[in-house]
Amino acid sequence: MSEAVLILGATSAIARATAAAFAARGAALYLASRDAEELRRIAADIQVRYGVAVQHGLFDAEATDSHTAFFKSVLAAMPKLSGVVLAFGYLGDQQAARDFNVGAKVIAANFTGAVSILSHCANYFEPLQRGFIIGISSVAGDRGRQSNYVYGAAKGALSLYLQGLRNRLYASGVRVITVKPGFVDTAMTYGLPGMFLVASPQAIGERIARTLDKSADVVYLPWFWRYIMLIIKHIPEAIFKRLKL
Ligand SMILES: NC(=O)c1ccc[n+]([C@@H]2O[C@H](COP(=O)([O-])OP(=O)(O)OC[C@H]3O[C@@H](n4cnc5c(N)ncnc54)[C@H](OP(=O)(O)O)[C@@H]3O)[C@@H](O)[C@H]2O)c1
Repeated sequence: MSEAVLILGATSAIARATAAAFAARGAALYLASRDAEELRRIAADIQVRYGVAVQHGLFDAEATDSHTAFFKSVLAAMPKLSGVVLAFGYLGDQQAARDFNVGAKVIAANFTGAVSILSHCANYFEPLQRGFIIGISSVAGDRGRQSNYVYGAAKGALSLYLQGLRNRLYASGVRVITVKPGFVDTAMTYGLPGMFLVASPQAIGERIARTLDKSADVVYLPWFWRYIMLIIKHIPEAIFKRLKL
């Protein structure tokens, strides 16, 4: 059976590439984000290129009060929903995030909002005993660094949440896959200093869609970030705290 996939944060560069990769596999799509005009453009483009059904609707991760109605409208439009890709994220200005009012937005956009909408998704899939949830976290969540620890903490919390959700949903046959990209060339990272081994959103999107063909639960993209992060995680804290990272 072909997939019917909800993509949350569909205007992101990585999400667009992921949507195109799912469409190339014949999946019907529901694209959700805050920018109605951009959603309409992306949906029309994918529909023309791949000949799949593409619907779209407004979704704000931070407006958690709206998530019940949002998810109902997705199910009304796509009654055979088979999977969800959570792609939204917000890096923001990490210097400014030292102020809690700014930091709270980073936490809401990357973590609280994700927990809210994924609760709806999990509670829907669990009794059906089918479905998948792909959550895009980040290598930034693997270890706290002075340059992005508010974003990193929110992504680290998201990774932990996805891990617990995977443990809960395993018995019902619902797959939960955590994706941890390294640096990707998108609006989020434009102009950031110190980037290396930067991947294209297209390469990452194709690999995200392909995670369904493999059994891995936690996927680093590209693959070598697993080993880079293994080394970084093993640097003793007494040394790590002195590094300018
Ligand atoms: N780029 C990287 O190097 C990198 C590395 C690791 C992980 N990631 C993660 O990969 C995912 C995709 O990022 P990207 O690089 O493709 O970033 P991007 O192009 O900047 O896209 C970010 C997306 O998140 C959406 N978003 C932000 N706050 C939102 C909210 N409150 N409600 C709904 N949508 C919201 C944005 O929508 P609007 O257009 O409405 O603002 C946009 O579609 C993110 O989760 C990011 O954290 C990225």
